[in-house]
Amino acid sequence: MDKILIRGGIPLKGEIPISGAKNAALPLMAASLLTEETLTLSNLPHLADISTMARLLGETGVEISMNGFAPNGGHTGRVFALTACREGETTAPYDLVRTMRASILVLGPLLARQGEAKVSLPGGCAIGTRPVDLHLKGLSQLGAEIELDGGYVNAKAPKGLTGAHITFPQVSVGATENLLMAATLAKGETVLANAAREPEVSDLANCLVAMGAQIEGIGTDTLRVQGIERLHSADYAVLPDRIETGTYAAAAAITGGSLELVGARAELMEAVIDALRESGVTVEETARGLRVTRDGQLRGVDAITEPFPGFPTDMQAQFMALMAVADGASLITETIFENRFMHVPELCRMGASINVHHQASAIVRGVSELSGAEVMATDLRASVSLVLAGLAAKGETLINRVYHLDRGYERLEDKLSACGARIERIKG
Ligand code: EPZ
Repeated sequence: MDKILIRGGIPLKGEIPISGAKNAALPLMAASLLTEETLTLSNLPHLADISTMARLLGETGVEISMNGFAPNGGHTGRVFALTACREGETTAPYDLVRTMRASILVLGPLLARQGEAKVSLPGGCAIGTRPVDLHLKGLSQLGAEIELDGGYVNAKAPKGLTGAHITFPQVSVGATENLLMAATLAKGETVLANAAREPEVSDLANCLVAMGAQIEGIGTDTLRVQGIERLHSADYAVLPDRIETGTYAAAAAITGGSLELVGARAELMEAVIDALRESGVTVEETARGLRVTRDGQLRGVDAITEPFPGFPTDMQAQFMALMAVADGASLITETIFENRFMHVPELCRMGASINVHHQASAIVRGVSELSGAEVMATDLRASVSLVLAGLAAKGETLINRVYHLDRGYERLEDKLSACGARIERIKG
């Protein structure tokens, strides 16, 4: 297994192109199942999860033609033309679903267009139990008959789905996306109340509108969908990755450097920008994106994760790495997932002072310096928080289980080393 070696202590300077958002790209790819016409997606990031989704869609009859990198060095990402021309293959098998929970996103569109779907239950994962009950309950409310058998969800709607008023008891990005896709082909009106407002949900909704869907309330917590009989082809560019942006902003901040994040959009990440500014980091909009600079001392700032527009859970680990070297203390509270502090013991091995209380909040007492160590993490954002710590630490940091990083960060070592970081991949 590959490892990443970092020799820390270099302030990063330069520019980093921001890739298309993984968490927007995955549901957008699943949306191709809603029509027999071609959905062309551009600005797709080059990531392991995107390849997994492509394989899964291939299993369910989608033909995909790929156009490598766009000419300007990957700034506009890959282009996929996805055509769900073959009907009849409606199974998402366990061996693919278990590697990527977002596979559950094929359930709504398969069921809506083909009247049946068999999708493996994803099971738990490192950051929490992550059930899919809200997806299943919502689809039942649209008239689907759902049975769980042998680890699979068997869903049927032989006469099609019917619109309904669905109020989510808790905000869920994935359930909102699954139900939104299903509702576009349901008979009559569907209202999704207490819907997730994450930019990736709006990106999906905008793409569905480009495919002919009738959706009102995009960007709000109430989505109103008038179902139609068929969707059609569209060309759509995936929005920039706000979590990748936030991660590289934290890299500039933790190393005391200055990075221009090309293609970044401030309105996708105001809570993160507010927290960075409060901690003493300068964030300015430029003609091409955002510039993030830190030249003074970092200050401890509290953060609590919440659904959008609150502070994102997917930035919690990275912000904690930053707070580990700030002046004073910071209280970081995780409200979305029950087990998302796995980076804490590893950061402590690098010299951080962090105490976790009831798996819900962490008190970070800033230290003057971290020191390099051999570390590993069990999920994507936890792993990248160790990269950030390694960039600031004295000495060498060796990060194991790099495959987590490859799921969500395109060309991480290239992007960082182009800005002066001493970082290399050791093939294993
Ligand atoms: C999406 O996951 C993202 N993944 C996650 O990104 C992100 O952390 C999360 O949203 C929250 O922003 C993708 O978009 C592919 P949820 P999702 O449904 O949709 C509970 C990353 O690092 N819940 O909003 O799975 C659930 O257990 C990843 O890129 C139920 O109880 O998240 C969690 O506590 C990790 N029942 C909360 O809701 C359900 O049926 C929010 O989960 C569904 C969810």
